[in-house]
Amino acid sequence: MPTILGIESSCDDTSASIVKDGKVLSNVIANQSVHEAFGGVVPELASRVHQQNIIPTVHKAISDAKVSKNEINAVAFTRGPGLLGSLLVGSSFAKSFALALDIPLIEINHMQAHILAHFIDDPKPQFPFLCLTVSGGHTQIVKVNNYFEMELIGETTDDAAGEAFDKAAKMLGLPYPGGPLVDKYAQLGNANAYAFPEPQIPGLNFSFSGLKTSFLYFIRDKKKENPNFLEENMADVCASIQNRIVSVLMNKVKKAVKETGIKQVAIAGGVSANSGLRNSLLEAEKKLGWKVFIPKFEYCTDNAAMISIAGYYKYLQGEFVGQDVSPLARWEI
Ligand code: KG4
Ligand code: ZN
Repeated sequence: MPTILGIESSCDDTSASIVKDGKVLSNVIANQSVHEAFGGVVPELASRVHQQNIIPTVHKAISDAKVSKNEINAVAFTRGPGLLGSLLVGSSFAKSFALALDIPLIEINHMQAHILAHFIDDPKPQFPFLCLTVSGGHTQIVKVNNYFEMELIGETTDDAAGEAFDKAAKMLGLPYPGGPLVDKYAQLGNANAYAFPEPQIPGLNFSFSGLKTSFLYFIRDKKKENPNFLEENMADVCASIQNRIVSVLMNKVKKAVKETGIKQVAIAGGVSANSGLRNSLLEAEKKLGWKVFIPKFEYCTDNAAMISIAGYYKYLQGEFVGQDVSPLARWEI
């Protein structure tokens, strides 16, 4: 039974993980705080910090798992989508590691891996299931027919859900990435305090740019009336904007369930850590008879455990790539 080393470096987290026989033995994540001062990820800085972090991160993943380097049967790495400079660090390391140990190399699509994080722990979804993948760069509804057979049935036409959270947070003067902070304040506020318009987008696609603009004007007008508006109402404002972003997501998922007849619904990606989204899904499970799958917190945001588990399933299928593989900034699911 295989032992897989997984490597993730698509954005600003360097992560390495060991999976043995389909079980996660380690999952080490090195975050990059360097971007906070810039209000967003700076690609050039991200790849430099990946270079500093990659060796200690892999070293720790191997020692935490209590395996020896020579027991590793294959290296799985994120080939894309993501920031090219960041992907280059992880993929170059993975290629060198595989070459040095003479073991196979496995390419992983980052968005597929977010979905396959549901196969780390029990209960695991049955095929087919729907997955709402919501991260800083993506908002997708995916029909998952098999481990690597996925159909994109809806996606954002502009900003991603995580971006909508982060941009709202920025307008509120909260530091980057603001999504988790909006969530934190939202838990103390009234979600119905302020109403924001629901975008009218046909089908299963999403749009957040109109909401972003109306939020900007809302804050501008309220601050004109009362310069201390935000300080006095932060919790209610966060709860209300979160409520709208979550309802946009939930309404499309409900539509997808109706159209496909599939009632197993999973969420993936960084925004699946959001308490409002989690609660709405659990409510739908109770009221609409769905079976809902929510990953453990540590497997929601970027991590290498999802890369090594995806690598494990590719290993079982004998799907390997050669040393000539190069990263892809864009890569359809
Ligand atoms: O999947 P991820 O870690 O990285 C990408 O591949 O983008 O997602 C990061 C995104 C960020 O936009 C972050 O603000 C958002 O997920 N996020 C949240 C929460 N935790 C992370 N958004 C809302 N509520 C949260 N609790
Ligand atoms: Zn991600």
